Amino acid sequence: MTSKARVILVGVGNAASALVQALEYYSERSSGHNLKYETIGGLRINDIEVVSAFDVVDGKVGHDLTEAIFAEPNVAPRLLEFNTPMGIEVKKGPLSDGISPMLAETLQISSKPDVKLVKEMKSVDADMVISLLPSGAKEATYAYANAALEADLAFIEAAPIRICSDNKWIRKFKKSNLPVIGDDLQSQLGGTRIHKGILEMLNKFGATIRNTYQLDVSGGSEGMNTLYTDRRMEKRKIKTDSIKRTLPYLTDDDIASGTTDYLDFLGNERTGYFWIYGNYFLNTPFKIDLTIKTMDGPNAAGTLVDVIRATKLAINRGIDGPLISVSAYGFKFPSVYVPEQDAVKRFEEFIAGDRAD
Ligand SMILES: NC(=O)c1ccc[n+]([C@@H]2O[C@H](COP(=O)([O-])OP(=O)(O)OC[C@H]3O[C@@H](n4cnc5c(N)ncnc54)[C@H](O)[C@@H]3O)[C@@H](O)[C@H]2O)c1
Repeated sequence: MTSKARVILVGVGNAASALVQALEYYSERSSGHNLKYETIGGLRINDIEVVSAFDVVDGKVGHDLTEAIFAEPNVAPRLLEFNTPMGIEVKKGPLSDGISPMLAETLQISSKPDVKLVKEMKSVDADMVISLLPSGAKEATYAYANAALEADLAFIEAAPIRICSDNKWIRKFKKSNLPVIGDDLQSQLGGTRIHKGILEMLNKFGATIRNTYQLDVSGGSEGMNTLYTDRRMEKRKIKTDSIKRTLPYLTDDDIASGTTDYLDFLGNERTGYFWIYGNYFLNTPFKIDLTIKTMDGPNAAGTLVDVIRATKLAINRGIDGPLISVSAYGFKFPSVYVPEQDAVKRFEEFIAGDRAD
């Protein structure tokens, strides 16, 4: 067992781009610069190593990761230049349902043959696989999750597909003595995280919520991908279910949380609109109307660097099955609901070894 957190990336899109850049950026700045944890279980950012990566798109497959992360259609901000290649060639994975029909019209799928997933995963001495596939890529996600199981690797589900919160998958990972983490990454300053935080605070001080929405407009290929109705509804369901766990008295008719539209010129930017309507003392009505603008890539990477190190810690401790504290901290739909205000404390207790999972 190495002391490094060795990671396989599935999907070299905008989140992967920001993550790979973050590893380089923080290699010279190990503290400050909005890095929440300098070390997690003794692991610094420098201890995260990407050891393999899969994609399906021309311009990414067959290229060094340092080139692939800037290839079209990626739009994550370019924060630095890589002077030397990383020596990691992006491999062609199984396409399956990875690319939505609308996105397929704008992309060229690589003509290279698919690699043998399990063989490649086994060959790189990795610890974990992170799925950064597009929303709605269910069958592709299942293929990579099954390959991770066969290759004896932990699995982190960053897309809004139910793996870590699905009992069938939990049983599979537990049976193989492997950790599973997810589902649907919660960005460092994510819309769902902020929405839940505000709702919890209002609830705590005696307000009742009548109805609320948090809807995004974004650019980037994930934004275009969610123009496709089925995929948009998958994303909306997991985000809405996450809010419903916070305020169980609200019904589907009272909540909307998801993406509404795509605008190419926004690039990696996401505008999140929050609207909350409720009542406080003497049944007085109130309305909250807020907007946040963030960049998706860095927002994802800010959480990923913590989740990766905490997962490695769990592996070192021999913990298997769903990592509840790590998932509650870093994901919108963990297998067990933990209020947003307790999630950081719980994550830190896990890191300190005061909690088993
Ligand atoms: N802040 C964030 O970016 C954020 C937050 C929460 C959740 N997420 C989730 O993370 C995931 C990734 O987000 P993103 O912005 O990087 O998306 P993206 O569209 O930029 O990247 C997805 C990548 O997956 C690749 N891909 C598609 N099918 C594939 C397959 N079968 N095998 C291998 N690669 C395949 C695409 O070519 C692309 O490079 C999405 O599901 C998104 O919902 C992101």
